[in-house]
Amino acid sequence: MSAIAGTRRVLSGMRPTGPLHLGNFHGALRNWVELQYQYECYFFIADWHALTTGYDDTTRLQEYIRDVLIDWLAAGLNPGVATLFIQSHVPEHAELHLLLSMITPLGWLERVPTYKDQQAELKEKDLATYGFLGYPVLQSADILLYRPAFVPVGEDQASHVEVTREIARRFNHIYGREPDFEAKAERAVKSLGGRNSTAYRQLRRKFQEGGETAALERAQALVQSNNRITVADRERLLGYLEGSGVSILPEPQVLLTAAPKVPGLDGRKMSKSYANTIGLREDPQAVAQKLRAMKTDPARARRTDPGDPEKCPVWDLHKIYSDEAVRSWVNEGCRSAGIGCLECKQPLIDKIVEEVTAMRRRGQEFEEHPELIRDIVAEGDEKAREAARQTLEDVRRAMHLRAE
Ligand code: TRP
Ligand code: SF4
Repeated sequence: MSAIAGTRRVLSGMRPTGPLHLGNFHGALRNWVELQYQYECYFFIADWHALTTGYDDTTRLQEYIRDVLIDWLAAGLNPGVATLFIQSHVPEHAELHLLLSMITPLGWLERVPTYKDQQAELKEKDLATYGFLGYPVLQSADILLYRPAFVPVGEDQASHVEVTREIARRFNHIYGREPDFEAKAERAVKSLGGRNSTAYRQLRRKFQEGGETAALERAQALVQSNNRITVADRERLLGYLEGSGVSILPEPQVLLTAAPKVPGLDGRKMSKSYANTIGLREDPQAVAQKLRAMKTDPARARRTDPGDPEKCPVWDLHKIYSDEAVRSWVNEGCRSAGIGCLECKQPLIDKIVEEVTAMRRRGQEFEEHPELIRDIVAEGDEKAREAARQTLEDVRRAMHLRAE
């Protein structure tokens, strides 16, 4: 068990579609790096998810997985505290996906906004596939397998976490009922033993009567840390806290990342599909060159034309990278045509080149020693499988695929 066992769990994943860029960094990764020191974190490469849209050409999949892993490490994910693994190395994801697919109404999936949006956006691909429709079911399996409290994702993924919660609720509703639940739960409370039984009852009352979530969390911790009770009793006790029945798959909460707007070089959102990105470990000279050519306020056709930072994507980068002093220098200089756009970009170029250079330095060790990555992943896979195996045992038992 890790030193932070008992702390709440966080889980998130990324599809391996190529090297990460500054949009991925500020949109998600930077946040993960902080979370890893506050929670027990599981982060994984969603290679099966990459197949849902990229099934027609998988030749570069291994390369992309490696790119993303090195980007993660370069950005500061620490395999000493966070569990880093690959989805397809943990076949439990596939089994839970299958089982959840049995109880997921088609209508829920057709209604997920990304379903129609992505089909419209990627017109050149045939996305009228079984796998693509099931994308949110696979994502639900990814999440529920680890019973996390929080799933940090961007706005675009919030609807998937919502489906996950609905599927969990439905699962618990169908399979979490026992005819004599109350009696069994009461017996389980007794089996906690003297002081713990009393504490459990008090905390349960505080939560149920006073709505104190802190009491709920303490009671959950009390149950989780007790290793004398059976797995079935543990589930009963957790379910009994909230009143409903056995909560086999707890509903996770979305943790929306407060992400700054990261503009691409053409002024649209930075995105691989727009080819307007700056790579996390891109060559510094190429980065400087790209930034020099980056789009600015079109009103400043000539050096003497005043501009408006609010209409300039470069300004969005200043909001991320520059301090107050630089920002007011930009604001005044732009509006009065006191500075040129290249001048305005220089402090940004310095900052971003510095950042990219640091990432390259941290990534280089892993580039040179691929065996380091193999070891990190092997260890992460093993830890993830252990957690996943436990959940699946509970799921199989609840569905009567195994004897009690
Ligand atoms: N769908 C997510 C994305 O495209 C990746 C993902 C797959 C994920 N499974 C997940 C994210 C589970 C969070 C939790 O970004
Ligand atoms: Fe944009 Fe700076 Fe040029 Fe103004 S001076 S248009 S903020 S790049």
